[in-house]
Amino acid sequence: MANQNAYEDRAGHWLALDGDVCVVTGAAGGIGSAIAAVLGSAGARLALLDRDEEKCVALAQSLDARGIEAIAVACDIGDIDSVQGAVESVDAAFGAADVLVNNAGLLRPGGIEEIALDAWNAMLRVNLTGYMLCSQKFGRGMLERGAGSIVHVASIAAHHPQTWSGAYSPGKAAVSMLSRQIAAEWGGRGVRSNAVCPGMIRTPLSESFYAQGDIERRRSAMTASRRIGKPDDIADVVAFLASRRASYVNGAELIVDGGLDSMLMDLVPRPGFDASGVKA
Ligand SMILES: NC(=O)c1ccc[n+]([C@@H]2O[C@H](COP(=O)([O-])OP(=O)(O)OC[C@H]3O[C@@H](n4cnc5c(N)ncnc54)[C@H](O)[C@@H]3O)[C@@H](O)[C@H]2O)c1
Repeated sequence: MANQNAYEDRAGHWLALDGDVCVVTGAAGGIGSAIAAVLGSAGARLALLDRDEEKCVALAQSLDARGIEAIAVACDIGDIDSVQGAVESVDAAFGAADVLVNNAGLLRPGGIEEIALDAWNAMLRVNLTGYMLCSQKFGRGMLERGAGSIVHVASIAAHHPQTWSGAYSPGKAAVSMLSRQIAAEWGGRGVRSNAVCPGMIRTPLSESFYAQGDIERRRSAMTASRRIGKPDDIADVVAFLASRRASYVNGAELIVDGGLDSMLMDLVPRPGFDASGVKA
């Protein structure tokens, strides 16, 4: 019987991404650079998109030294012309994208009572509109070929309000729905769309939190796996969803938070237990 997913003629890595063109946005950041490294190790050719071109070039060079084909593309994902330019750069270097990982994001403080409209819009421009623009522009080639995979990095903040963080949670909740909408609209034409919801991951985006007091110990205590996540914890799951190994996974969301989401009852004070649910 013929193997529908044609793994046999794809030598090497279990994920069978050999030669696939994978676009990663926010590639210069903590989670993005880990995603790039994992996809590259599985044989993908990489387009590293970020508004921080210098860091992207450095990452491309370090991957190249490991035998991974990678190009750096300066791109502001919230700007339609910049995204279109990135599509053209990727086309010229490698041909159309097989995989898009929407990962670039930002986090800014702001309570709802006082947040300025500009600050609200600035966050949604990247964290939501940027995800739609990249999906639309890179998705076009996937739809033409009838094959492709999009993975959106959302957050557990899509399901739990991250207070005093302006549009962060509303934007991530919207990304979760955007992912499902794309799955429903494009699934019949061979393009899958899935989301990953990271919990607490130590990266440049979150580093300032960990610089303060004993935050790492306290956050670890309220996580089922009793540790803070690493960028690789997210990258491995993104790579699985991007790959043909997840061929029948569409419109799904994977929470990758070390079990933080299951700890609510452990945070409720109970006689005889300390605050982390450990029997006193
Ligand atoms: N770190 C965490 O704990 C955590 C938890 C949940 C979700 N996330 C999500 O993971 C993703 C990656 O976060 P990270 O922790 O690696 O952050 P990071 O700050 O290390 O990386 C984010 C990258 O996005 C880039 N970027 C920002 N705006 C951009 C724009 N307009 N165009 C192009 N690139 C832009 C930045 O230059 C940076 O390189 C984000 O979407 C974030 O919301 C992170």
